[in-house]
Amino acid sequence: MIISTNLTIFGGTGDLTFRKLLPALYTMDITGKLPQDSRITIIGRRDYDSSHYRRISRDWVEKFTRLSFEEKAFDRFSEKIDYYRMDFSRLEAYHGLNHYYRENDISSHIFYFAVAPRFFSAITEGLKLVHGSSSGKVILEKPFGENLAAATALNTELEAFFGPEHIYRIDHYLGKEMVRNIQAIRFSNPIFTDVWNSRYIESVQISALEDMGVETRGGYYDASGALKDMVQNHLFQILSIMAMERPEEFSPRGLHDAQLDVFRCLRPADETSIESTLVLGQYEGYRGEPLVKPDSQTETYGALRLFIDNERWKGTPFYIRTGKKTGKREIELAVIFRRPYPDVEPNILIIKIQPTEGVYLQFNIKRPGDSEDIIPAKMDFCQNCSLIHQLNTPEAYERLITACMAGERSWFSQWDQIELSWNYISHLKKLHAGKQLPVYPYKPGTHGPAEANRMLEQYGHSWL
Ligand code: BG6
Repeated sequence: MIISTNLTIFGGTGDLTFRKLLPALYTMDITGKLPQDSRITIIGRRDYDSSHYRRISRDWVEKFTRLSFEEKAFDRFSEKIDYYRMDFSRLEAYHGLNHYYRENDISSHIFYFAVAPRFFSAITEGLKLVHGSSSGKVILEKPFGENLAAATALNTELEAFFGPEHIYRIDHYLGKEMVRNIQAIRFSNPIFTDVWNSRYIESVQISALEDMGVETRGGYYDASGALKDMVQNHLFQILSIMAMERPEEFSPRGLHDAQLDVFRCLRPADETSIESTLVLGQYEGYRGEPLVKPDSQTETYGALRLFIDNERWKGTPFYIRTGKKTGKREIELAVIFRRPYPDVEPNILIIKIQPTEGVYLQFNIKRPGDSEDIIPAKMDFCQNCSLIHQLNTPEAYERLITACMAGERSWFSQWDQIELSWNYISHLKKLHAGKQLPVYPYKPGTHGPAEANRMLEQYGHSWL
């Protein structure tokens, strides 16, 4: 029997596979989105066999599935999984993998690179050695490359082998329900569409706080830091959807072009204003985390103030912040409208991404009764309140893997966007390092260093 699709996961014993990919694939299986005859080949270096790997996966899936866990359903799903032991950084090992594919009649491939970007090239070389030309799609995890030069070289190599149209760069934030909803909220509601510009909007905030620290990922994280880990990809993707013009057509190309224009208009940071543009922080205790350098200067928190130099946004600052161990897990996008006159609260629209998925709107009304005071009224719409205990990340992966299988490319990041966002972040980091600006310590459980609040206060703003 020829297998319809085989998903090979490089990095199959890593955190991402256990926490996100397997739970997503399990849900896809029980909801009928994983083709019945598909197979999952897990590549890892550990000395496991398939039955051992299936046993380990069970507990992860039970813990992280967003649906209720069913033993029988898992057994059926796990029969699709095979473990193939190999060192994917060794070229010779690919002959064995190829032999395994042939023996199992596997010829239609999706390769998932759930490994650090430094291995992307070695895996591509290995596949090239045995396949000659590409025979499938590839899904790449972020970060894409470790810096702009490395990302560019990697992109050239991957595009040459797989072909640009077969590369799916996952940004799992693009699979989140409320990120998908930004377009609908912006373009299907005249009450927002017509005022979505600097004439009416005073500032925009994109805030992604996490209560977790770096946990088992200290090695990767210490070489990366908050700007590369969260801002350059996830939060810049959100920024571009919040700020883009209405796409000429709602097709993959239309959406990418509209997003790309935002990246093109980002005002580059400059040396004179870097201190009031960027605040970096590190939580106390970070240097004691496993695999983190004891004198590490890596930021676990970043707050930015940036501008988009185009007609729509001239003069409206966009504030972005993200941090680990900040006492709560919350991602929200806030649009703060200009006050029609002093002494009233601004209208505020908040798009809640997680853990609550919803929309909050603040507007002004007269205080009930004889008073003529104007007070804010608050409307809070929660879309997932009955599901609040469920993490929505697996859902994002389900969506994106399903989309890749169907060849649907809209919600994957494109190289030209990545190139521009790398450029912006590298430049920012260079200015910060060049001026030897501090990475401020902050206490775990707080919302980051006080300097990040001060950055906004000097402009009369504050984090919501
Ligand atoms: C990943 C980052 O891409 O996103 C992690 O590497 C971060 O550091 C994670 O914790 C956050 O994702 P989510 O879906 O839990 O908000």
